[in-house]
Amino acid sequence: MEFPYRTYLILFLVLSLSTLPALSYTVFSPVDNYLVDCGSDDDSTVDNRRFVGEESSNSGSLVSHSDGSIPVRNNNSFVNSSPIYDTARVFTRPSKYEFEIRDKGTHMVRLHFQTLNSSKFDFFNAQFHVLVNDHVVLSNFSGGNIVIPRVNDYLIWVSSEKLVITFIPAKPSKFAFVNAIEVISAPKDLVPNTAQLVTSEKIVNFDGLEKQALEVVYRVNVAGPKVTQFNDTLWRTWVPDNEYLESSFGSKSLYFGGRIKYQKGGASREVCPDNVYNTARVIQSTNDSIPNVNITWTFPVVGGYKYLVRMHFCDIASISIGLLYFNVYVNGNLAYKDLDMSSVTNYMLASPFYADFVVDGDDLSVLTVSVGPSNKSLAHTIVGILNGVEIMKMNNSMGSLDGMVCADWVSRSWPRGNVGVLFPLVFAVCLLLGISMVVQRKLIWNEGYSFGWSKLPVDVSETSVKH
Ligand SMILES: *[C@@H]1O[C@H](CO)[C@@H](O)[C@H](O)[C@H]1NC(C)=O
Ligand SMILES: *[C@@H]1O[C@H](CO)[C@@H](O)[C@H](O)[C@H]1NC(C)=O
Ligand SMILES: *[C@@H]1O[C@H](CO)[C@@H](O)[C@H](O)[C@H]1NC(C)=O
Ligand SMILES: *[C@@H]1O[C@H](CO)[C@@H](O)[C@H](O)[C@H]1NC(C)=O
Ligand SMILES: *[C@@H]1O[C@H](CO)[C@@H](O)[C@H](O)[C@H]1NC(C)=O
Ligand SMILES: *[C@@H]1O[C@H](CO)[C@@H](O)[C@H](O)[C@H]1NC(C)=O
Ligand SMILES: *[C@@H]1O[C@H](CO)[C@@H](O)[C@H](O)[C@H]1NC(C)=O
Ligand SMILES: *[C@@H]1O[C@H](CO)[C@@H](O)[C@H](O)[C@H]1NC(C)=O
Repeated sequence: MEFPYRTYLILFLVLSLSTLPALSYTVFSPVDNYLVDCGSDDDSTVDNRRFVGEESSNSGSLVSHSDGSIPVRNNNSFVNSSPIYDTARVFTRPSKYEFEIRDKGTHMVRLHFQTLNSSKFDFFNAQFHVLVNDHVVLSNFSGGNIVIPRVNDYLIWVSSEKLVITFIPAKPSKFAFVNAIEVISAPKDLVPNTAQLVTSEKIVNFDGLEKQALEVVYRVNVAGPKVTQFNDTLWRTWVPDNEYLESSFGSKSLYFGGRIKYQKGGASREVCPDNVYNTARVIQSTNDSIPNVNITWTFPVVGGYKYLVRMHFCDIASISIGLLYFNVYVNGNLAYKDLDMSSVTNYMLASPFYADFVVDGDDLSVLTVSVGPSNKSLAHTIVGILNGVEIMKMNNSMGSLDGMVCADWVSRSWPRGNVGVLFPLVFAVCLLLGISMVVQRKLIWNEGYSFGWSKLPVDVSETSVKH
């Protein structure tokens, strides 16, 4: 190279400019963005987002109609509720939606459920299974218990050309339903490939995280109000932490009115919005001694799964950099020792940082996260902080997020006349089918698709369930 010095100088300038707090405000625009208002004739707009009515304009992309799928409108519209909850699609037989995927990788999949008051269907009688591609996301789900709208939020890795959501009634006398569906490509940095697996003995890398199916079970804004999808760049909801905080003894909540300084390479606004980072609960040392307390949050969980715990930190409390050191515990195990908030945020206050931990929830009924002073904490400073926390359930070895059942077995659970599955064979069948279906799918998916999502779900009882 002839002018290495100049090259380095330019490189240095570019690098330093990109790490300056010149922060990006680009709006996230997902490549795949399907919002479906199921069972509705009209489009519905919710917080400036348009959910497309399934039965609106007959724009040629209609897919064969399933006999067992029926649009249902609520008898008496709910007051103050979003219009997507006024309609639903009911399935009396296995049926599926197919979404063409242009952007492979992690997708956010949200299913909206709200029981309707219909003269045709008694929603208390709904009981069904839901599959997303090869993952069981709901099994034996009873819709009849839902009194306020329920949103099930999943992160699913998609490596194929389509994403298929299948609804299967638990028995012929039951039915399945859904009110709205969202399928949105996630920002590439939302789910990294590696996190820290924390056990009582050790901390090791957990690799392959991005390929796991995840279900968001808690998304909490510590010491702050509920953050609605209107104020979140990825249309998520964050709930207050009061219910999960074990004790407020020795800590206080804090609000910061300034700007959150997102930096390139750090947490982005898509990872977690300003409204979550600008509140926190802190432990403060007010005299020469460091308080001997932890702040602990407790979350009830279902055992038998691994969980991803994402903790969000942003130093909105210290008067200067270099003063905030603390320990982070997950389930009472030291997960991050002497966390130095300055070094992880490139020596900038009010700049966000998050840490991902994986815990094995095999025998758990609750999961706890705590922060507390470390040996490096300094008197007269903040000695512990937390701004937000997310807890996500990870699919089990059967690929399921709801029970020890695999997707193929669930598909086959729909009665086919004289089918009698021998119980000891089930696991072998799951394995064999898993392998053969991967091969088959590769062939089928090469045939190409000309439409985005199927306007109407198609009856799958004759195709994938057939054998
Ligand atoms: C269903 O609607 C009818 C008529 O509007 C009303 O009388 C009844 O209470 C409603 N039932 C439920 C469960 O909301
Ligand atoms: C509304 O519900 C009531 C009672 O459940 C029923 O008698 C009536 O026919 C329903 N109306 C419609 C339009 O479905
Ligand atoms: C649903 O529940 C029934 C009865 O408890 C059980 O036999 C069946 O295996 C369950 N199905 C799934 C898919 O979990
Ligand atoms: C959005 O956030 C702003 C500022 O935090 C708040 O005033 C407003 O009420 C929020 N809007 C909704 C719909 O949550
Ligand atoms: C520091 O303050 C705490 C309460 O804020 C008190 O319990 C403790 O005794 C004080 N320590 C000293 C050395 O004054
Ligand atoms: C904080 O929690 C950790 C893990 O449970 C524990 O080892 C430590 O003793 C606790 N510290 C205080 C002051 O309670
Ligand atoms: C703090 O230092 C003491 C003494 O060096 C050590 O025994 C203890 O394990 C340290 N605590 C943590 C949480 O690192
Ligand atoms: C999740 O499911 C995939 C198969 O879809 C499997 O390879 C992976 O091991 C499962 N994850 C866990 C934690 O068991």
